[in-house]
Amino acid sequence: MARLTLRDIARLHADREKITMLTAYDASFARVLDEAGIETILIGDSLGMVIQGRDSTLAVSIEDTAYHIECVVRGAQRAFIIGDLPFGSYQESPEQAFRSSARLMAAGAQMVKLEGGATMAATVRFLVERGIPVCGHVGLVPQFVNVLGGFRVQGRDDAGAKRIVADAEALAEAGASMVVLEAMPAPVAKEVTGALQVPTIGIGAGPECSGQVLVLHDLLGVSGRKPKFARNFLQGADGVAAAVVNYVAAVKDGTFPGPENIY
Ligand code: KIV
Repeated sequence: MARLTLRDIARLHADREKITMLTAYDASFARVLDEAGIETILIGDSLGMVIQGRDSTLAVSIEDTAYHIECVVRGAQRAFIIGDLPFGSYQESPEQAFRSSARLMAAGAQMVKLEGGATMAATVRFLVERGIPVCGHVGLVPQFVNVLGGFRVQGRDDAGAKRIVADAEALAEAGASMVVLEAMPAPVAKEVTGALQVPTIGIGAGPECSGQVLVLHDLLGVSGRKPKFARNFLQGADGVAAAVVNYVAAVKDGTFPGPENIY
């Protein structure tokens, strides 16, 4: 089975088909996601929380992430693979970001994701010009948990909403091929999605994004938390594979996220 490329993802977006994304960290779940038709798999630094049991993502290392990318790539033959740059592996300089991204690409990533808005634009440009596709990530950026004072919804006031739109635009302008929008009021995510040519992938950002992502352990109800933006797809499903199939169907037909998942 041929692996999806950035062109395939761009085609889905051009056809206005919702893009499906889930996190995965190992070969067995990656295979299940692949067989269920998930188009993009993110090896997120959420692994620090759901795999390593930490209370934030901050201690994840580039070698942790590379290891889990290698595991996922062995399990998933078709999905487009995105590696999450961990805290401290890219913020220092574009050169540091390139070295870290090259490590994740060597492990099997086809794109890297980084957190932050306009301040990361120069780094995004540097990476893209050197052959590394980039996914941005704005709104609630978990690597900023200590600056934000917790995992809080962003963009609730006018200034915050404008900042999110400007940040996403700056990333796209710098060459980002995709932008994750996390934990913001649905109208803000709608505005960002309308302003960008590239797809937006929402998590707690409402139904108007170009696609949706969830942490796999939230979808299965085993993360030990029950965030408002997530739905337990295992409830009422005939096993893990059926739960993921149901998630794909619900994202594609726009029934996930529902009104109960929106800020
Ligand atoms: O680390 C992660 O899993 C993420 C997603 C929640 C978008 O960044």
